[in-house]
Amino acid sequence: MDFKIAVLPGDGVGPEVVAQALKVLDAVGRVFNHRFEYREGLVGGAAIDVHGVALTDETLQMCRNSDAVLLGAVGGPKWDDPLAKVRPEDGLLALRKGLGLFANLRPVKVLPMLIDATTLKPEVVKGVDLVFVRELTGGLYFGQPKKQWQTAEGRQAVDTMAYSEHEIERIVRVGFEIALTRRKKLTSVDKANVLETSRLWRQIATEVSKDYPDVELEHMLVDACAMRLIQRPAQFDVLVTENTFGDILTDEASMLAGSMGMLPSASLAGVPKGGSSRAFGLYEPIHGSAPGRAGQDVANPIATILSAAMMLRYSLGLGFEAEAVERAVVSVLEDGYRTYDIMSEGKIKLGTGDMGSLIADRIGKR
Ligand code: IPM
Ligand code: MG
Repeated sequence: MDFKIAVLPGDGVGPEVVAQALKVLDAVGRVFNHRFEYREGLVGGAAIDVHGVALTDETLQMCRNSDAVLLGAVGGPKWDDPLAKVRPEDGLLALRKGLGLFANLRPVKVLPMLIDATTLKPEVVKGVDLVFVRELTGGLYFGQPKKQWQTAEGRQAVDTMAYSEHEIERIVRVGFEIALTRRKKLTSVDKANVLETSRLWRQIATEVSKDYPDVELEHMLVDACAMRLIQRPAQFDVLVTENTFGDILTDEASMLAGSMGMLPSASLAGVPKGGSSRAFGLYEPIHGSAPGRAGQDVANPIATILSAAMMLRYSLGLGFEAEAVERAVVSVLEDGYRTYDIMSEGKIKLGTGDMGSLIADRIGKR
């Protein structure tokens, strides 16, 4: 089949890791007879330098006219002035809102051969295999009013946490649908002992659960969840939560796997129903642009390569091909190849490009 993919490499190590994901996609295309047509665009600091904005309407439109978007990373010290009118992150937020990407999937899996990469005790992270489903277009990030102003008593600022029934229902449904394809356990995370939006969230999660009798639903307060995540992380299967809670908890959860360089993400505009159904989405590694490592061919491309695998699965309906990519990654790790961030004694250290090539070479083999 033919697919159109919008490619937004962004800043820092973004272009290097994205190039590796494209190598792997090209290998998938050769082995499984698909054609991926890439259309490149600027986002983040790269777009600010050229256009003065972090995302142009043309680039947004190009994304809309594609089957999926593959993104590297945005940001860097060059654009970090707190008084700056435009920030690289604005590009990301504009993509999320402009493309209606309300469901952010962040899987965290601790692979046996990397169990020592974490700062936690190996026995705590052993067997961790969870997926965060983070609401991505609502809550404090976008709620109005959102402003800072001057009063006679000094400066004030406000952000607004607002959620509609519709917004909660569709994200909770994503949680249930993903849970159905896994161990059938969903943890809905909220702050229902304090927040009105959380009380609505909890009611709706309970209502939607009637449609999914096979999935066990539990409610957990966000502070307790933060604790459980480092105490007994293997107990979780799928977690669903609102935007800001999800931002914080997913950074915490990423450390279970030791390196952010291993973790992919998907941001979807629809509810994934499994099988060959397709939802439009944007795919990116969860790590940032790592400006200090840019241009040195050291960054770990695996997070981006695994993001491309998620793209094959959720947006292109190619679940089999996605598994082939995931198997290739595991096989390379099993053979002892590592990038600097997951390096340990006796292993073979590779740069970004070599790691990408090695994974691409193994697509469809063994
Ligand atoms: C993330 C990031 C973004 C967020 C920033 C860069 C705006 O931290 O994707 O988690 O807060 O959502
Ligand atoms: Mg974050």
